[in-house]
Amino acid sequence: MKIVLANPRGFCAGVNMAIESLERALNLFGPPLYVYHEIVHNKHVVERFRDRGVVFVEALTEVPQGSPVLYSAHGVSPQIRAEAKARGLRAIDATCPLVTKVHLEAVKYARLGYTIILIGHEGHDEVIGTMGEAPEQMILVESVEDVERLEINPEKIAYLTQTTLSVDDANVIIAALRKKFPQIANPPKDDICYATQNRQDAVRKLATKADLVLVLGSQNSSNSRRLAELALDLGRPAHLIDSAAEIRDEWFDGVDRVLITAGASAPEDVVQECITLLQDRFGASMCEETVREEDVTFPLPKSLRELLPASA
Ligand code: F3S
Repeated sequence: MKIVLANPRGFCAGVNMAIESLERALNLFGPPLYVYHEIVHNKHVVERFRDRGVVFVEALTEVPQGSPVLYSAHGVSPQIRAEAKARGLRAIDATCPLVTKVHLEAVKYARLGYTIILIGHEGHDEVIGTMGEAPEQMILVESVEDVERLEINPEKIAYLTQTTLSVDDANVIIAALRKKFPQIANPPKDDICYATQNRQDAVRKLATKADLVLVLGSQNSSNSRRLAELALDLGRPAHLIDSAAEIRDEWFDGVDRVLITAGASAPEDVVQECITLLQDRFGASMCEETVREEDVTFPLPKSLRELLPASA
């Protein structure tokens, strides 16, 4: 059996920044340290920090007054920022800058009086945060059917997207929006982020040469789920798994080539554990296929940098 390791895979610049921010904040303040929502959508990352005294909360009322609190990579609504301020919390904003970009687009279109269609998944932390920028002017759509059901025809209308969508699915929804609202505006640059696009491009290119695709990532990770769905759409069996412990021997009956990739929040050590398991169990060999080089990095949040010693 041959393992083909997809590149790029795993941590993106936003996840690296959010995790590094939490590391630094934990060193600075010590436990317990509060984070609003999971810092990134990955079970291992969250459990490892939880073991070190990080407390992930779903409501700011769980954070003692005056305490530091980190916002996760997925961002928060202005209402949450206001609540944190009212409670005297010391907010450190680890929102990915590419999510912030979508927030700023929402604010801009709202100010100009546009009705904004957000393409995204209901209930996702990022969508909740973005919708909060202009709740009166934003409508969420998840599918072409949702677009068809829209009973509006505003003069000024624009669309935005969640950063971690399937590029192919989003394009179909965008086409339906353009058909229904020929006047619809869109931001100059795609909202689906570079990391989501690159990981999907790698699967699109490499999956057709594989008999099976393994995607490392958690079930609540949007971009990881999209990678598994893409492989399935390409006609390849695919499994989204959190770790090597979930691997079943029967998946590999008749399999000569297995593609391994990882969502943007999945740590590399869980990828390496899967490779080791397949090497030990099936004597698999391994090669890495690079579809695109990535060199994106994001700075730590300003509110954190200001607290760090000059040399840190
Ligand atoms: Fe940011 Fe995209 Fe990663 S929005 S957190 S770079 S998946």
